[in-house]
Amino acid sequence: MDLTGKVVLISGAARGMGAHEARRCVAAGARVILGDVQVADVVALAEELGPDKALAVQLDVSCTEDWTRTVSAGLERFGRIDVLVNNAGILRFTDTENCSDEEWEQVLGINLGGGFKGIRAVIPAMKEAGGGSIVNISSTAGLKGFGGVPAYIASKFGMRGLTKAAAIELAPYGIRVNSVHPGNVETEMIEDLYPNLNHVPMKRVGQPDEIANLVIFLASDASSFSTGSEFVADGGETGGMPDLFADGR
Ligand SMILES: NC(=O)c1ccc[n+]([C@@H]2O[C@H](COP(=O)([O-])OP(=O)(O)OC[C@H]3O[C@@H](n4cnc5c(N)ncnc54)[C@H](O)[C@@H]3O)[C@@H](O)[C@H]2O)c1
Repeated sequence: MDLTGKVVLISGAARGMGAHEARRCVAAGARVILGDVQVADVVALAEELGPDKALAVQLDVSCTEDWTRTVSAGLERFGRIDVLVNNAGILRFTDTENCSDEEWEQVLGINLGGGFKGIRAVIPAMKEAGGGSIVNISSTAGLKGFGGVPAYIASKFGMRGLTKAAAIELAPYGIRVNSVHPGNVETEMIEDLYPNLNHVPMKRVGQPDEIANLVIFLASDASSFSTGSEFVADGGETGGMPDLFADGR
């Protein structure tokens, strides 16, 4: 899982899984372009990793102009883009009856529209390089439903579909596209969300590094025959129901 010589563009890299992935990619030999709306944090992370290894860019993934600027800045600094990790995402809690147009459009615009705009922006550079790998961060919420978060569910199912559409179109150019489906992972996004983890057979949250392992595998040539596929790391959550009768059959 060596990334030596590769340039990896990560959205939502200021904190959480994106920041972990950035550190792990650099440790695996890559240079990274770090985009986020939280500019101060992404600049601090780039400084930590070093100017020869990391470039921080202000990037709102829902904005086409931001993607154009980010790709140009990355190409100017590092000369190539081999990997895109569409990681930026937001979670909002409003049930279907009460979800406003604004909330629906915001969540879909960032989680799904951002992924689409990112893919569209990196295609020319990847075609010119003769290939690339795009990793779309979906969720177990892209594999099964949860109540109370309809926009999030729709966006993460959409990310799974977008992955397959792009993978089919881009395979002739050597560009692979896969989706990653994390279960509950310990980041600020789900802080204090679950009173228990009875829905997870392993009965624990995942750590960001456990998702970064999958992302690095998909970014690297180790996954050279994988495209249009779903990669799950969820402690067994989507495998089936935990044993509800374990305590008293
Ligand atoms: N934490 C979990 O349990 C979990 C589970 C499944 C999937 N995911 C997904 O993993 C990804 C990362 O989540 P996380 O847990 O690290 O969340 P997080 O909230 O810790 O980090 C998300 C990052 O995305 C950035 N971001 C938000 N809107 C943005 C925008 N418009 N443009 C650019 N950046 C933006 C934020 O500033 C932040 O740095 C998300 O797509 C999320 O939906 C998370």
